[in-house]
Amino acid sequence: MIVCRSAAELEKMKAAGRLVGEVLTAMSGAVAPGVSTGELDALAEKLIVDAGAKPAFKGYHGYPATICASVNEEVIHGIPSPKRVLHEGDVISIDVGASLNGYFGDSAVTLPVGQVSPAAATLLRVTEESLYKAIAAVKPGGRVSDIGHAVQKHVEAFGFSVVRDFVGHGIGERMHEDPQIPNYGEPGRGPRLAEGMVLAIEPMVNAGTPQVKVLSDGWTAVTRDKSLSAHFEHTVAVTADGAWILTAREVAVPAAR
Ligand code: MF3
Ligand code: CO
Repeated sequence: MIVCRSAAELEKMKAAGRLVGEVLTAMSGAVAPGVSTGELDALAEKLIVDAGAKPAFKGYHGYPATICASVNEEVIHGIPSPKRVLHEGDVISIDVGASLNGYFGDSAVTLPVGQVSPAAATLLRVTEESLYKAIAAVKPGGRVSDIGHAVQKHVEAFGFSVVRDFVGHGIGERMHEDPQIPNYGEPGRGPRLAEGMVLAIEPMVNAGTPQVKVLSDGWTAVTRDKSLSAHFEHTVAVTADGAWILTAREVAVPAAR
């Protein structure tokens, strides 16, 4: 069942989303060569708790941390550690979720660590663009698969591949609600979108093949071919005019190139 949220509920979700966006802004200021993913996790947890909110991931099916920090060939669900120190040229996907006053926000970005290769920079740019193309495909009366179609079309035009094993999701009073939102497919399929639905749209894109595997820690998903991977996510509400980005940050949407 897909829940449609009232205006009052959307205001609460906006507060949760704003906090998640602020944490990601702090993460982008903190990422640098020599910083560990464990330090990033501690900072994120402090910001969330100080805001009177709760980390959404910690304890979720036993997940041990506040953020997911996935470096280079790690796709998602990398577990932060003081031993994992970032180096110049790495890319790091940081996923943050929080609940505030009973409602969840969920958002992710992939950041360059210092100067990265042109190939890595292109992967990040195209993956972020695919998220905005997907968001632009959201409208009442549209279909869930319009979202994934927009992602796939953009990503594959650059020779990158869409991860199939993980999907976006509805979000609200729980982190994961219906519907599931694949990042690929034909348009015009699946549930119809309606005003008040709230969706976490999260393309995961590999530079090489789409195949992933989960490491023996039970969480970290990596590319099978060890190619780089990127992940961008926003929580958005379906409105009459289109999508409203609840996890929006005070940064520019990348200009078309
Ligand atoms: N954004 C991810 C998701 O939608 C984060 C979940 S991490 C977990 O599934 F540890 F909480 F599972
Ligand atoms: Co999510």
